[in-house]
Amino acid sequence: CIDIQSLRAKSGYITMDPGFGSTGACFSDITYVDGERGILRYRGYPIEQIAERASFVETCSLIIYGELPDAETLNRFRRALAEHAPLHTSLYHYFSGFPESSPPMAILSAMLNLVSCFHPGVLEVHSEGHGFDRTAALLLSKVRTIAAWSYRMSVGKPFNQPNPHLTYCANFLHMMFSEPFQEYIPSPAVERALALFLILHADHEQNCSTSTVRTVASSRANLFSSVASGVCALWGPLHGGANAAVIEMLEEIMASGRKIDYYINRAKDKSNDYKLMGFGHRVYKNFDPRASILKKRVYEVLAELHKSDPLLDIALELEEKTLKDEYFISRKLYPNVDFYSGILLRAIGIPPEMYTVMFAIGRMPGWIANWRELHDQNLRITRPRQVYTGRQERSFVPLEER
Ligand code: ACO
Repeated sequence: CIDIQSLRAKSGYITMDPGFGSTGACFSDITYVDGERGILRYRGYPIEQIAERASFVETCSLIIYGELPDAETLNRFRRALAEHAPLHTSLYHYFSGFPESSPPMAILSAMLNLVSCFHPGVLEVHSEGHGFDRTAALLLSKVRTIAAWSYRMSVGKPFNQPNPHLTYCANFLHMMFSEPFQEYIPSPAVERALALFLILHADHEQNCSTSTVRTVASSRANLFSSVASGVCALWGPLHGGANAAVIEMLEEIMASGRKIDYYINRAKDKSNDYKLMGFGHRVYKNFDPRASILKKRVYEVLAELHKSDPLLDIALELEEKTLKDEYFISRKLYPNVDFYSGILLRAIGIPPEMYTVMFAIGRMPGWIANWRELHDQNLRITRPRQVYTGRQERSFVPLEER
């Protein structure tokens, strides 16, 4: 039990806000979220319109530079992405140095820092000019190659070189799934589904990973180390790791043969840590518009691919039951972006160990834009305070007297 009055007297006045639920740390022009009304806009454009009409590359350009690109700007950006897709040949053997069991998120965060060592000047870039443009394109492109190669390595298959003639998404799928003498050509439905997934993850204001990127960047750390730290923050199951955890949970429900009510009751029981993965959000208290878009798209993609997925039926039942359950209603817990995204990725053949890596590829433009904005605004270094609750002063006890 903490005596707040006496702590105040000792520490001065400090705003205690664990988890920063009510603390604003910056002004930002990038992404608008209204959690009560389920609104998400990138640079003013509703997510529904971007999801329907933009490509992922256009979305990246919008998020990083603030405007939808015209045809010439978009072509230039596409060319830069194609140019930067290959990895420096000296990097190849680093991949084979990782044990095959290495989690792709560990490889991704390590390789993002490593890549910077092979491109002179990228660590010194500021938030403007050719140097920034080149570095942003380099990161957006190389994150895709690193991700695909980390998967190839984990399954013991040879790396596929990027193909500069393919779109951003088709190129990724080619690097993931082409085999010697057998080029993987995705169907339009698969390519569109991947683009949608990436677009919906492209930015989401001050979430855990983006605020981590900003915290690291606030020390004026370079773009590579800042986004590598974003990958680490994203990895956790309460954040980006939830997309894989949802599928694990749905598979467990299916395999157990138990009724869904058992799992709902378990999540409500405060004597354990069990949560329904993919439910709840710090900001959305009505619905997550990304989850609504994904849910609709999952049906369409499964139909287009002539597939069905028993996990979708379990997910739907879970959602339906929680919508009528007082525990979930009173706490405003609804499916978040991670609830249906794993089912979409499963439908297009992405293996579960790659789900959170896919999130990281999608979030890269948001991290880059936030890094840039922080530099533009020349913000103060992030340095929260604490209230000390430990022992008062005491004298050192020599080893022989302990
Ligand atoms: N299942 C069961 N109960 C939950 C869940 C859940 N998924 N989420 C929150 N609750 C409960 C909490 O136990 C708490 O109950 P209490 O008031 O009785 O103590 C109440 O709802 C409020 O939850 P908080 O933990 O305070 O909410 P917070 O904003 O801190 O956390 C979070 C949000 C991390 C998303 C949480 O809802 C959660 O852990 N969800 C499951 C993991 C998940 O899906 N993460 C992905 C989030 S989206 C993203 O990062 C891209």
